[in-house]
Amino acid sequence: MSDLSEKPIGVFDSGIGGLTVMRALTRRLPGESFVYLGDTARLPYGTKSPDTVTRYAVQCAGAVSEKGIKLLVVACNTASAVAIGPLTKALYPTPVIGVIEPGADAAVKAAPNGRIAVIATEGTVKGGAYMRAIKALKADAEVVQKACPLFVALAEEGLTEGDIPERVARHYLEDLLNVADKPDCLVLGCTHYPALSGVIARVAGPSIKLVDSAETTAEAVARLLSEHGLERRTAPTPPRFLATDAPERFARVGETFLGRHIDPAKIELIDL
Ligand code: DGL
Repeated sequence: MSDLSEKPIGVFDSGIGGLTVMRALTRRLPGESFVYLGDTARLPYGTKSPDTVTRYAVQCAGAVSEKGIKLLVVACNTASAVAIGPLTKALYPTPVIGVIEPGADAAVKAAPNGRIAVIATEGTVKGGAYMRAIKALKADAEVVQKACPLFVALAEEGLTEGDIPERVARHYLEDLLNVADKPDCLVLGCTHYPALSGVIARVAGPSIKLVDSAETTAEAVARLLSEHGLERRTAPTPPRFLATDAPERFARVGETFLGRHIDPAKIELIDL
């Protein structure tokens, strides 16, 4: 047993949305310990320039890495889309996994006709990372993308069901879906969108499969741990939460994303 395998898995996001990835990770890997950082002081990343997102993401990765981790999961789609290269370099030799490649892989598997729609933040859409990752796996895939910024605000407000999110979903998805050759699948390419998956699935209709990059990332992390012999062998410790601002809000809103109670008193406030 190497000491490394006993270390926690580090996870970071621009804020609380990455707790959807953490939720998938803890479900898939119940025997692991986790340390999660939400950069709540500087959210959102999705509207910022690639240079700024990269600078913030490298600072977050450094702060999580200081806690002593065996692997880093970049839960934020925007940071994964623009900064995975610099992050991998900054943390070497610690392995770094983003959410784009696992999401692209799942999308290709869920698209027998090769028609894939991706919804994400403005930054992720503009950078075209999902498009490139999907085309690398299936060169003739037809990929359409759309930024759905209001989904982030709706998820943070807890407005995940009912008339308002449904109308917003119709507004965003109409032109993606009202085409002769409908997409086979719709990639939820943002940490917040799984919180709205019920509404999105209803608007998309039963023929379009939703691809949640959180679940596919958890699967990729499980594979990587097993390949490197890094699975934890002793009982896990409770998750550690770090935030750069507003720990009380992190706990209150974060609970809905994580699906379990977060004690605000246990959130460590850090400065980057
Ligand atoms: N975490 C971001 C993402 O997955 C969404 C929120 C933000 O814009 O920071 O792209």
